[in-house]
Amino acid sequence: MGKRSSSLLLAVALLSLSTASARKCELQGLWRNELGSNMTLSALDDAGAFVGSYHTAVAATNKRILVSPLKGVQQHPSAKGPVTFGFTVQWQFAGSITVFVGQCFVDRGGKETLETTWLLREEVASRRDSWKATRIGTNVFTRLK
Ligand code: BTN
Repeated sequence: MGKRSSSLLLAVALLSLSTASARKCELQGLWRNELGSNMTLSALDDAGAFVGSYHTAVAATNKRILVSPLKGVQQHPSAKGPVTFGFTVQWQFAGSITVFVGQCFVDRGGKETLETTWLLREEVASRRDSWKATRIGTNVFTRLK
C-alpha cells in the first residue's frame, strides 16, 4: 500500500473514532438495567424535560408489580457527548418513591450506557421508623431500542 493511501486510511479511522466518541447521548428510547427492569423514555421538550414509564423487575413489597410513570430532566438538552439527568418514579403499587440521577455515556463503538445512582424512600408508619426508610443503590442501563 502506498504512503498516500495508508495516510488516507489512518485519517478515515481517526475520523470515525472521533465521530463515535462525540456521538450525542440520546435518552429517548427503551432501556434495560442489570436487574432486568425496563424503562421507556420520551423525547425531550425544549427545557430538557422528559416523561416515561418504568417496569421494575424487583420490588421491596409482595404486591403485584405495575408499570409506573416517571418524570425527569436532562441537563444541557442540546449538548453532545455525556449528559447528566435525573428522574423520579412514582410507584403505582407501593407507597414508595425512587429518584435516579445519572449520566449517559457513549463508548467508541457507539454503545450507550446510563450510569445511575438511586434513592428509594419507603413509606413507614411513624417518624420513629424514618431512619430505615431510605435505600441507596446503583443501576446501569443499556439500550434495547
Ligand atoms: C418498591 O418496592 O417500593 C417499589 C419498587 C422499587 C424498585 C427498585 S427502584 C431501584 C431498583 N432498580 C430497579 O430497577 N428496581 C429497584
